[in-house]
Amino acid sequence: LILVEYFILGTYSNAGKMKIVEEPNTFGLNNPFLAQGSRLQPRVTPGPVSGPAHIQRLAGKCFSYIESTYKYEFCPFHNITQHEQSFRWNAYSGILGIWQEWEIVNNTFLAMWMREGDACGNKNRQTKVILTCGGSNKLAQVSEPTTCVYSVTFETPLVCHPHSLLVYPTLNDKLQKEWDEAEQAYYDDLITKQGYNNLLREIFEDAGFLKTQKVEKPNTTTTLKKHDSLQKCNEDARKQSEEIHRLQALLTQHNIPYDSKPDKSKSSLSRTVQDGHLRGDNGLIADIL
Ligand SMILES: *[C@@H]1O[C@H](CO)[C@@H](O)[C@H](O)[C@H]1NC(C)=O
Ligand SMILES: *[C@@H]1O[C@H](CO)[C@@H](O)[C@H](O)[C@H]1NC(C)=O
Ligand SMILES: *[C@@H]1O[C@H](CO)[C@@H](O)[C@H](O)[C@H]1NC(C)=O
Repeated sequence: LILVEYFILGTYSNAGKMKIVEEPNTFGLNNPFLAQGSRLQPRVTPGPVSGPAHIQRLAGKCFSYIESTYKYEFCPFHNITQHEQSFRWNAYSGILGIWQEWEIVNNTFLAMWMREGDACGNKNRQTKVILTCGGSNKLAQVSEPTTCVYSVTFETPLVCHPHSLLVYPTLNDKLQKEWDEAEQAYYDDLITKQGYNNLLREIFEDAGFLKTQKVEKPNTTTTLKKHDSLQKCNEDARKQSEEIHRLQALLTQHNIPYDSKPDKSKSSLSRTVQDGHLRGDNGLIADIL
């Protein structure tokens, strides 16, 4: 019999290195009557508790569910584990995921993603916990739609109200305003659906609902700048307009005729669009300079 045990190498768990050690039979050390939890070694720390306040109250609680020979334990905002119900000395016990982020669809918290679970081939186990309305808090269903990606249904009376999982009301004033602006910009055709979705993603990341996908450079000011896409766009338009005036002045100074139409537009945003003509004249300007 081979026993598989995991050891985290190095002092820091964020090293993320895991070695699988094959040990000979060591009955005493791995006796299933020992607390199984003590054998589970999480690879990462859970993400922040976030989302609707009434759901956050589930933090610190655990719910279990037994299906055939396995017991599943779901601890919202912490972890989900699987324990083989067997008196074998090496009964399996493993981490199916550690709380990471929400899945948000259509302004609604749809599911909780628990990732970075125990190794599974060259990947790590992960679990999507779908919240559905039910009479009491309980795990209701476990499946494995793709290898080592688990799908779990958690029933709870906390999500029965149609508005209970809406994202917008859980945002602070600043982020609500950013969403309002993004919505307006999309409505006004100033940004594409994709641009709108990117802005939303940034808002959700900022709120801590989603894990950040940006490559974080430590201690740069880039993180401070990431939410002003619209402001930045306006700012760029203004700068560009100044630059155009400067270049027009230069052309006038050298008695070179130019198409002055673009300057007549009122809005700085539409100006950037029309300025295409002038930008095409770069070669000429370069000659002067
Ligand atoms: C899972 O979460 C529970 C509840 O927060 C905690 O007591 C337990 O130690 C966690 N187990 C692992 C393996 O992270
Ligand atoms: C999104 O939610 C709204 C109501 O909040 C609903 O009317 C609409 O059908 C939903 N759209 C999708 C794609 O689920
Ligand atoms: C980065 O910022 C943290 C606090 O925000 C500080 O403790 C740390 O020394 C900084 N590191 C560098 C390289 O400046």
